[in-house]
Amino acid sequence: MQQIYLLATVGALAALAIVVHAQTTPLFPVACELNVLIVLDRSDSVKGGFNKSRKFVTDVSEELQIGPEKHRVAMIVYSGLSYRREVFPWNFAKSNEEFVQKTNALRAIGGTTNTKKALEVGLELMAQRNVSIPTLVMVVTDGRSADDPKGPGKLLQAQPNTWVFAAATGDPESVDTRELMDITGNINHIVMHRGRDLATDITRRLLREAQDKCRTTTTTTTTTTTTTTTNPITGCELDLVLVLDFSTTTDPVYNSYKDLSKRLVSQLKIGPHYTQVAAVTFATVGRTRVRFNLKKYTTQEEVLRGIDKLQSKGGTTAIGAGIEKALTQIDESEGARPGIATKVMIVFTDGWSNKGPDPEKRAKDAVNAGFEMYTVAYTARAPNSVTLNNETLSAISGSSGHAFTDVTFQSLVDKIKQRNLPCMP
Ligand SMILES: *[C@@H]1O[C@H](CO)[C@@H](O)[C@H](O)[C@H]1NC(C)=O
Ligand SMILES: *[C@@H]1O[C@H](CO)[C@@H](O)[C@H](O)[C@H]1NC(C)=O
Ligand SMILES: *[C@@H]1O[C@H](CO)[C@@H](O)[C@H](O)[C@H]1NC(C)=O
Repeated sequence: MQQIYLLATVGALAALAIVVHAQTTPLFPVACELNVLIVLDRSDSVKGGFNKSRKFVTDVSEELQIGPEKHRVAMIVYSGLSYRREVFPWNFAKSNEEFVQKTNALRAIGGTTNTKKALEVGLELMAQRNVSIPTLVMVVTDGRSADDPKGPGKLLQAQPNTWVFAAATGDPESVDTRELMDITGNINHIVMHRGRDLATDITRRLLREAQDKCRTTTTTTTTTTTTTTTNPITGCELDLVLVLDFSTTTDPVYNSYKDLSKRLVSQLKIGPHYTQVAAVTFATVGRTRVRFNLKKYTTQEEVLRGIDKLQSKGGTTAIGAGIEKALTQIDESEGARPGIATKVMIVFTDGWSNKGPDPEKRAKDAVNAGFEMYTVAYTARAPNSVTLNNETLSAISGSSGHAFTDVTFQSLVDKIKQRNLPCMP
């Protein structure tokens, strides 16, 4: 009698667990650490189709923090059975930059599409993943495989703690939705162009939402488990380091760097739970200074006043030394919030450097230290911009789309502001 009762209870609990699970399973895995397995169809069936898929993958990767500690990526690039398949094991890319670089080096190979075989290779990679963290499998194909991917698709879906998605970057009319359904087992896990939304935008939004939730999840666990933490994490933390070229005493140039900095700061939410700002100025090597560190000011007014007070004394130009000095701002003693805040460094310069350490190498150090790097140049003085050293500017900013001018500055502000937006009224 008692046994039957117990069984009934267990049964009820199991049913409850299933219901709860179904209700709380998010569309995308919510976790600060993720395995991301990309299965990329390179059989350029539509002209230029592979380039589109490749761009999808690199664009979406911007929402990840690729590295052995956060988002660990593996990738399979495939077409037909008799064509070379490229298998990139877990953690093949240690940073977003490395991922983009390796992905951009891939080329289309014609032939058939053998997604079944690719997914089988995927299952082998899955066996090597870190099972203690959730996994997102993203199959990028328009379908129309020569072999039926249903079998390995089912096995992938059945992996614990795993979400299988498919993304089609081609014309929605020519996509084989039924096959994508076989791969994912869930209609909501298929991303395609819808109306004017690109598959990229949809995926980015999903990923961003999941990552935002992961931040709030961390908050609750942090506040409940750490008794010393009195400051809740808001998810809007940003450590912003402004690096200003003060080698020129010419007013329009260095004052424009100050004005642009102020324009940025006045559009952000400043404070110990939001954006903290540090300023570094550089000129001659020995005259590179942290003018104020991340923890010096706690209000917007103070930061604006701090920027106002900056003065140029002129000298030679040592961009590398400026970036090197800015790297001191990864230290907690300077006010940095490692693991919590997004790190952004903006270098205001025309790109000409004639002294000190190699700017490109120092910029790489900064990227390795977790900084998103941007450059801002002032063009108004010379409308044709021949006075800019674009080569150095793009070497410092690294990823394309990270080099700005006074003319395009607002789009940089908008980009950086994203981090604070959830906390702004
Ligand atoms: C695809 O990209 C490669 C370089 O990344 C380029 O050489 C090629 O012309 C592009 N193909 C198409 C069809 O746009
Ligand atoms: C798996 O990930 C967890 C969480 O980051 C980590 O603590 C653990 O060391 C990892 N295991 C292996 C084998 O890498
Ligand atoms: C340098 O970049 C600026 C801004 O992107 C552009 O307007 C200018 O034409 C470029 N100059 C050269 C010499 O390529």
